[in-house]
Amino acid sequence: MTHPLTVAVLGPGGTGGLLAALLSRSGHRVICLAGEATADTLRRTGITVRSRQFGDFTAAVDAGTELREPVDACLVTVKHTALDAALTRVPPAALGDALLVPLLNGVEHPAALRARYRPELVAPAVIRVESTRVSPGVIEHGSPFTEVDLAGDAVPRARLDELAGHLSASGATARVAGDETAALWAKMAFLAPFALLTTRYGVPLGTARTRHREELEALVAETAAVSRASGAPADPAQALARYDAFPSATRSSMQRDAEAGRPLELDAIGGALLRAAERHAVPVPVTERLVRELRAAGH
Ligand SMILES: NC(=O)c1ccc[n+]([C@@H]2O[C@H](COP(=O)([O-])OP(=O)(O)OC[C@H]3O[C@@H](n4cnc5c(N)ncnc54)[C@H](OP(=O)(O)O)[C@@H]3O)[C@@H](O)[C@H]2O)c1
Repeated sequence: MTHPLTVAVLGPGGTGGLLAALLSRSGHRVICLAGEATADTLRRTGITVRSRQFGDFTAAVDAGTELREPVDACLVTVKHTALDAALTRVPPAALGDALLVPLLNGVEHPAALRARYRPELVAPAVIRVESTRVSPGVIEHGSPFTEVDLAGDAVPRARLDELAGHLSASGATARVAGDETAALWAKMAFLAPFALLTTRYGVPLGTARTRHREELEALVAETAAVSRASGAPADPAQALARYDAFPSATRSSMQRDAEAGRPLELDAIGGALLRAAERHAVPVPVTERLVRELRAAGH
């Protein structure tokens, strides 16, 4: 049994708050980094999780507005739209030898983080979960699964294994993915068609996959082509089969953000897809149109 970790969590929202509470519950020291009001609340109340998978529980956490002490790892769990502002809470010198583990969707943030922090300590992860920050320190976890794929081609494997082991022992299903590009693009290839289509038409997946079938198939094919050009495998038939297997009422988090009037991660998903397509000269007319229409709608 390895020693308990000290883990910072930058942005203790839906994903970060859940992982923070799980890690704290299993004996690790957790320091949440947030704005002053949220940090105060978390110090006083801890994080309460209401979960289909883990039951309901409250876990104590420490919290502050900036990283000021050594940690073993810092999870980055803000949305893309808040990333630059949030990173000012993690000065590179304070990070020391800690792993920096972004769990954001998208494919471009790892390069930005490697330009700012020690590149060999940036370990991008993909998380599959449905978890919502209802209010500061209160997390509703709706999915019966919490899956984390840790990557980072330049990160020493033993450090990824150790973190994956602790995350798994805390209740998540964590594993080390062999290939960072494949891991990030696998998530992108599933997410982008679903998010763009459901948000553009304001309909749940069941309606999107029947009424807008041709567009869905085109988006899946385009994303797969860009994924392959970017050096990752892609399986468009499997992506479509997964969409067809989901409950018809499923909504994407981009769509939920649009409905709530919150900023969208449109640039990190659709924008990044278009930039990669352009770099590799892959035609993506349907993606282009949907991103253009979403932007024209003010997103
Ligand atoms: N939620 C999911 O189920 C899910 C699943 C898979 C992937 N993801 C991805 O995970 C990433 C995070 O999403 P999320 O849903 O967890 O986001 P979220 O619930 O909106 O949480 C983000 C947190 O960041 C905090 N924050 C915002 N600006 C900050 C700043 N300047 N400094 C410090 N903290 C700041 C917010 O604080 P306050 O609480 O004070 O507002 C909030 O707690 C996204 O890329 C998303 O696409 C999410």
